[in-house]
Amino acid sequence: MPTAKAVMTHVNASRTSDPAFDWEDRATWAPALRGASAAYVSFYPDLAVPGAPEAIAALADEALSAGVRRLVLLSGRGEEEAQRAEQALQASGADWTIVRCSWFAQNFSEDYLLESVRAGEVALPVADVPEPFVDADDIADVAVAALTEDGHVGALYELTGPRLLTFAEALQDIGRATGRDVRLVPVPIDDYAAELAAHGVPEDVAGLLRYLFTEVLDGRNARLADGVQRALGREPRDFADYARAAAATGAWDA
Ligand SMILES: NC(=O)c1ccc[n+]([C@@H]2O[C@H](COP(=O)([O-])OP(=O)(O)OC[C@H]3O[C@@H](n4cnc5c(N)ncnc54)[C@H](OP(=O)(O)O)[C@@H]3O)[C@@H](O)[C@H]2O)c1
Repeated sequence: MPTAKAVMTHVNASRTSDPAFDWEDRATWAPALRGASAAYVSFYPDLAVPGAPEAIAALADEALSAGVRRLVLLSGRGEEEAQRAEQALQASGADWTIVRCSWFAQNFSEDYLLESVRAGEVALPVADVPEPFVDADDIADVAVAALTEDGHVGALYELTGPRLLTFAEALQDIGRATGRDVRLVPVPIDDYAAELAAHGVPEDVAGLLRYLFTEVLDGRNARLADGVQRALGREPRDFADYARAAAATGAWDA
């Protein structure tokens, strides 16, 4: 997903854009915000990491100084630091909207699960806790509405898909969409962490994944929410529809 989107100029700002925007280099923030009237803010690597609330507060300050009043924050569910970051934005004086999301369906086709789905075997430290995976296209629609339409300032939208699915069930949907066998291999969390280290995954990223798969995926988010309906007046897209669309793009072709 883009890190920040300057609405007036339609520029996606991240480390590789021109002008660049780097969360770790505050000198890049003002040039990236210049000329925009609203910004979609996606923190990296994750709002769950320590220091995220302070970074969001600092970005809001910088944005308000640059005349960017409307800020739409992409957030995560059931994460203490993410909820503190939301509070920092709410206290900033900006015209805020919060888009608090469940796990993205696109993690299976565009992110860290892609290679293992292609290989037909996904080893994860998960049990039977269901998650209402949300389609990133729904997130984008809500973000665009919040950035460009009236009526979303001061709203906290909690976005989920329309169905609770275990990881095994999500992979079954992907299997049906691709016509291939894609199965879950549950592994103990310590074995998973050792595997990440063996593949050179940095310690902070491995720590984040451990946190997400143990604490955040403990059942606290195993319920549906109505943010898509409230923001857009329509139902969210089902995981099976996402899986069919992603399969049609060839994302999972071997
Ligand atoms: N994935 C989920 O299931 C999920 C669920 C709920 C909430 N979220 C939230 O969504 C946000 C994005 O997560 P994601 O999974 O979409 O991440 P992602 O796909 O890994 O994000 C990658 C993007 O971040 C940019 N980026 C990387 N380092 C950066 C830096 N130092 N400064 C500026 N941009 C940087 C990259 O562009 P460049 O390489 O060009 O910089 C790229 O566009 C996070 O804040 C997370 O908390 C994610």
